Amino acid sequence: MRKILTRRIAMKKLVLLICILVASLYAKPNVVILATGGTIAGSASGATNAQYDAAQLGVDILIKAVPEIANLANVKGEQVANISSNNMTDEIWLKLAKRVNELLASKDVDGIVITHGTDTLEETAYFLNLVVKSDKPVVLVGAMRSATSMSADGPLNLYNAVSVAASKESIGNGVLVVLNDEINAAREVTKTNTSSVDTFKSRNTGAIGRVYYGKVVYSTKSLKKHTANSVFDVSKLEALPRVDIIYSHANDYGDIAKHLIDVGSKGIIHAGTGNGSIHNNVFTVLQEANAKGIKIVRSAIVGSGYVDSNKKMDDNGNFITARDLNPQKARILLMLALTKTSDTKEIQKFFDEY
Ligand code: SIN
Repeated sequence: MRKILTRRIAMKKLVLLICILVASLYAKPNVVILATGGTIAGSASGATNAQYDAAQLGVDILIKAVPEIANLANVKGEQVANISSNNMTDEIWLKLAKRVNELLASKDVDGIVITHGTDTLEETAYFLNLVVKSDKPVVLVGAMRSATSMSADGPLNLYNAVSVAASKESIGNGVLVVLNDEINAAREVTKTNTSSVDTFKSRNTGAIGRVYYGKVVYSTKSLKKHTANSVFDVSKLEALPRVDIIYSHANDYGDIAKHLIDVGSKGIIHAGTGNGSIHNNVFTVLQEANAKGIKIVRSAIVGSGYVDSNKKMDDNGNFITARDLNPQKARILLMLALTKTSDTKEIQKFFDEY
């Protein structure tokens, strides 16, 4: 009698175990959507009105507009900010990064999607790429047409972004940007067109994958250090060091560089002509700035390519080169580098590795 009872209990346990296994096999991933505003949450008075207001709709409305997302993942939404991303601030970046790290530390969160304006989307993506402490997918998504526009691109972009965040293949790929059926790495991608939906491009490397109505296909991955392998940590930071950008041009006066010394900038990204070249009028001022401890990084206005070390500027001037980072991303890396060191050679190493 006791044997039969023991066998029955064992049988019940086995059935329970099988049920749990089957359930976990079919369980959907848990994805949190963090909303920050942008055109994806924008609205206009008419479907063909190009003059819309960004950051009008809340995260719940964005999720409700794409009910098909429920087939991909269990989704929860949170509103972190509701701004036009040209107004992005360090405070929002720090708040967002801390919340992303908090959520990803939970075993109940498998991935994160961040809805964002396209103006500074690449900057937020690269910032998070350097400070997120997890291999789990983090995907930024935006739209070029407002939610009320004819042929709005936001709903499909959001659907695709959730599918990328829910995909196991996205694990370890760093922070990703999904728009217009393409998956781009945060470090490489930039906005290339003011109005086209086909605007986000990785000019030096190309996209790392594609997503077609939720079907995710990767073809390559970023080899630079990021997320779980990054040394940068914002968990205890309340502010970031001030770093400014100077945009170079013919007949440059050098006055802007002088002003940046006066306002206490801790670092200057010089977006130079050609291969990161600097006008003589500016070079002397940047040397002065460098002698005062302000770090100078040479990037380029060109939009693609690699800035080489240069004997005259980097050796004599003690400048750093941004390599293939565009000026706005070089600014982010320098801000974070300055939270770790003021040694020029160590900062150059960060620019070589990240
Ligand atoms: C913004 O960046 O918030 C406005 C523009 C856009 O989202 O496309």
